[in-house]
Amino acid sequence: MCGIIGYIGAKEASQILIDGLEKLEYRGYDSAGVAILNEGKIEVRKFKGRLSVLEENIKEKPVKGSMGIGHTRWATHGEPSDVNSHPHKSNDNKIAVVHNGIIENYMEIKEELQKLGYSFISETDTEVISHLLDHYYNGDILDTVKKVINKIDGAYALGIIHADNPDMLIAVKKDSPLIVGIGEDENFIASDIPAVLKYTRKVYILESGEMAIVKKDSISLMKTDGTPITKDIYDVTWDIEAAEKGGYEHFMLKEIYEQPKAIKDTLLPRVSNNGEVKLDSINLSKEYIKGTKRIYIVACGTAYHAGLLGKDMIEKYAKIPVIVDVASEFRYSEPFIDQNTLVIVVSQSGETADTLAALRLSKEKGARVLAITNVVGSSISRESDDVLYTWAGPEIAVASTKAYTTQIVALALVALEMAKKKNSITDEEINMIIKSLKKLPSRLEEVLSNVESIKDTAERIYSSQSIFYIGRGIDYDVSREGSLKLKEISYIHSEAIAAGELKHGTLALIEEGTPVIALVTQDKLYDKMLSNIKEVKARGAYVVAIAKEGNIEIEKSADRVIFIPKTIDEVSSVLSIVPLQLLSYYVAYKRGCDIDKPKNLAKSVTVE
Ligand code: F6R
Repeated sequence: MCGIIGYIGAKEASQILIDGLEKLEYRGYDSAGVAILNEGKIEVRKFKGRLSVLEENIKEKPVKGSMGIGHTRWATHGEPSDVNSHPHKSNDNKIAVVHNGIIENYMEIKEELQKLGYSFISETDTEVISHLLDHYYNGDILDTVKKVINKIDGAYALGIIHADNPDMLIAVKKDSPLIVGIGEDENFIASDIPAVLKYTRKVYILESGEMAIVKKDSISLMKTDGTPITKDIYDVTWDIEAAEKGGYEHFMLKEIYEQPKAIKDTLLPRVSNNGEVKLDSINLSKEYIKGTKRIYIVACGTAYHAGLLGKDMIEKYAKIPVIVDVASEFRYSEPFIDQNTLVIVVSQSGETADTLAALRLSKEKGARVLAITNVVGSSISRESDDVLYTWAGPEIAVASTKAYTTQIVALALVALEMAKKKNSITDEEINMIIKSLKKLPSRLEEVLSNVESIKDTAERIYSSQSIFYIGRGIDYDVSREGSLKLKEISYIHSEAIAAGELKHGTLALIEEGTPVIALVTQDKLYDKMLSNIKEVKARGAYVVAIAKEGNIEIEKSADRVIFIPKTIDEVSSVLSIVPLQLLSYYVAYKRGCDIDKPKNLAKSVTVE
């Protein structure tokens, strides 16, 4: 993970780097640092802790200079500490490096360099790069960087400065994301667009195996072997406000409330007034769909949970068997893939290392890959055969919310498109489902306005040691996401159980007062769920049911009921997850947790 930034221009670099790092903190936040070049000398400031520690230090003792690099870290090699923080320097203090990614062969390089007399002060993999640059430096920095790149294996986005080359920043990319921001008499490098958006809307998105020599008034793009390349400028159309809190106390809450709009933006351009799906951006012909024998949906975390709902919809509408797998398992398995297999990868960031590896494996094995992602220009979007974007806008909070609901909507559209092409669904059915999808934003507004009962529930359960979620079918899929949301931001132990499985083990954990959140939104499974609620009630559980409006019967069985508006079962997940997102938020709030930046986690998981 980690976020990197670089600036070269005429202004004081330190504030620009800190501003940019603030926008990248979602990528990691256990330490932060900057290296600034001034009058031939590199000054490094770096500290364990949040960015504010670095910011305070610079406020008290400003560091001068109009070019530099910065880093916000999510520790992989070596604990969070001042020493392990980036930037890392060469022993002679002439070179500084920031790095996002992992250098896989760093141990053997470290041993070689130690034999040559280099001393290492950190436990990081990155430090080998600053010493390697020093080792190969022959007066030609470009040539030196090329030699270093040939030596290192792994994933990296690098920002490099060298005291003998005070007019340039060097940016190198393999696998980890990297962009170059194009300003006027100033230029930038960064891991992600929001870091430079205050200064420019024009960026180059680098591909793996590319690098940039970034000067104050010019940018030269090339392959890492030095071959010059040209690239289209990407004009950012979304606004900086989209990546700011806009009056909400946390990004997570803001993003929960943005869901009606995110769903409209993802859905409406793709359905016509007469109820037809128009997925122009993806090229799945009738013949291809008819020949598709199997679909894999591969993703991690919340995106995986959206994939589970994708399976339900694709199998129901398009009648194609679907296997859903977590990417870290899939990539080391023996998947049944051939030319008749479609692999759908789902990823908010489009950069998740395991999902990217799964995508590459699928392509190697001959599958067609369709990506559902939220980030235009991300590695996953570029490497897939087809891309369907979720138009959720930037998601900053580590806990994913609007990405999940828009992923479900995108998967519903894919399912309908396939079903239509396979003639496995009637026009009336498609019409009815699209109507229900279109009503989701206003129904979501209703859920979002009913927050008081959710706050009360949070008040009742926030000091629990363990909270269980139960459901069947779609409700079980949603339970898994609800449980993940709770544990990741409140640090309460939580598990989601298929309600019918309770008696096969987990029931032993239910005690007097244990909260059980029971999802009961499907008519066909209502009676079965009622029995499961009785099972846990008989063992003393405090049951909170999530049920459809009008189902007053359930109030007799549960201790508390949170109602969601009625809709068809297939899309009810988009509504039933929202009270669970809000419940997690308010529980974490009551416990005083750092909601947007939960401990040990980061937004973009670019390491395996
Ligand atoms: C949980 C969460 C993670 C991500 C997972 C995949 O709230 O956000 O579980 O869903 O790391 O990330 P993407 O979707 O970026 O591939």
